[in-house]
Amino acid sequence: MKTREITIVVHEFQNIGELPENDQRLLMEARRITALAYAPYSGFHVGAAVLLDNGLIVAGNNQENSAYPSGLCAERVALFYANANFPDAGVKAIAVSAAKSGILVNESVKPCGACRQALAETEVRFETPIRIILDGQDSILVLQGVESLLPLSFSKKAL
Ligand code: THU
Repeated sequence: MKTREITIVVHEFQNIGELPENDQRLLMEARRITALAYAPYSGFHVGAAVLLDNGLIVAGNNQENSAYPSGLCAERVALFYANANFPDAGVKAIAVSAAKSGILVNESVKPCGACRQALAETEVRFETPIRIILDGQDSILVLQGVESLLPLSFSKKAL
């Protein structure tokens, strides 16, 4: 038996002002679109903003449904919109914010497993690491690629 350790790197920032300017702009867009989420069932409003390698920023938010599984997370709404409209543009970064009753959550938001897998697909598709910015009052986490969010992931390389 051999044991391997996998290291993930997480940069932690105290507030939005500490982030590099591009990250600040992307996170501001995620915060703006969070307020427009359709989340009447959970009351958990999430916004995601995606920076494309053509410089465009596209944003999305969670869209819930009375048939719960028919809804979709903010990350995938934003990502799929980006991929649908700009199929040749790689994704450089995604910022995610979340609010309850209009107030930014304390603990930084964490994408669900399905969104991590969707991000992994996009990273492999465009062969570009996606910078991930996760908003919260206590801290803002920045990861340099999906590998830090979803180690040992499944991809087309296995097919
Ligand atoms: N949600 C997101 O949109 N993104 C996340 O990263 C976590 C969860 C949504 C799904 C659902 O509409 C609500 O938050 C509560 O789970």
